Amino acid sequence: MKITIVENYGEMSKEAAKILAAAVKDNLKPVLGLATGGTPVGVYRELIEMYRNGEISFKNVTAANLDEYVGLDAESPQSYVSFMKSNLFGHIDIDPSKTFIPDGKAKDLQKECDRYTELLADIPRTVQLLGLGSDGHIGFNEPGTPFTRHTHIAELTQDTVKDNSRFFASMDEVPRKAITMGIADIVSAQTVLLLASGKNKARAVYDMIKGEVSEDCPASILQRHPNAVIIIDKEAAQLL
Ligand code: PGA
Repeated sequence: MKITIVENYGEMSKEAAKILAAAVKDNLKPVLGLATGGTPVGVYRELIEMYRNGEISFKNVTAANLDEYVGLDAESPQSYVSFMKSNLFGHIDIDPSKTFIPDGKAKDLQKECDRYTELLADIPRTVQLLGLGSDGHIGFNEPGTPFTRHTHIAELTQDTVKDNSRFFASMDEVPRKAITMGIADIVSAQTVLLLASGKNKARAVYDMIKGEVSEDCPASILQRHPNAVIIIDKEAAQLL
């Protein structure tokens, strides 16, 4: 693991954006695995800025998102389709037909999981961006999820429902299920870039880096990844 500790969220976002921009510039057909939530918003802001300044183009980029809530319409403001549009895709020159997000409204959810797993195998990711759940989850792979799983339906833990309720009018509105890339899909990326900011991530950061590799802390699998890049701010690093 290559661990970088930076001052704050802004610096974390800038460092991560540099890595993603380099992946886009240095590859003919870059594939980015992308994430949602509060963590990557600043990274996306930086990338949009680079695009506006003419430093980078996303024309050749393929993007595959980590996850989507089950049951939300794509048009719902809380869906990850909406999130990606308003925080990144709507502001850059990426080809929408090359952006992929699991369909949380699919009639046959298992079939949708299998389709997404196959898709991911066809587009190996150059870099997979990740946030970190306060319970150590990556994607929606909650503690206890086998490392060998591919895309599947995950039940959100109470911690995650609570953490994500800030994006909804109330806790009751947070979907309890999501389709998520599995850990086996996540670690198949050439580089995994995990970001964490703030003191509520400090325990999960500690377990990920200093704890045993264990399904109790899904992110600990990154200790075994040949090219895991971890960028965290001082607050998230406070227990190290
Ligand atoms: P956050 O979530 O970026 O909103 O803190 C991280 C995650 O749950 O992976």
